[in-house]
Amino acid sequence: VIDAISIEALDSGVPRRLKVGGREVVLTRWGGRVFAMKGVCPHQARALEDGTVRSRLSAGACFGDMELDLEAAPVISCPWHNWHFDLATGKCPADPKMRVKTYVTAIRNGRVWVDINA
Ligand code: FES
Repeated sequence: VIDAISIEALDSGVPRRLKVGGREVVLTRWGGRVFAMKGVCPHQARALEDGTVRSRLSAGACFGDMELDLEAAPVISCPWHNWHFDLATGKCPADPKMRVKTYVTAIRNGRVWVDINA
């Protein structure tokens, strides 16, 4: 488990790429949570740190009847071809076989710790 960065250095909803234990990791703060994932999109191996982070729609929501699910982990959309990935699981909601490696995080004493071996 590696001490990656101060929680105060992360703006909520703004992905940030860091080298953690020799790996390229994208950290995203979302309120009081921090998510970590590999910084490479599985579609065409482009960088994910310029992606946009947003809440997911609630289950069953359809066009014209949309609600945000503020409890669920947000998704990041790849800036290249707009594929989305759940920040907690790394799965693409449209195709769960497409997945970005995620890492376990913890916040202790104002610092973000990342387990790159889990
Ligand atoms: S490279 Fe990410 S969606 Fe295409």
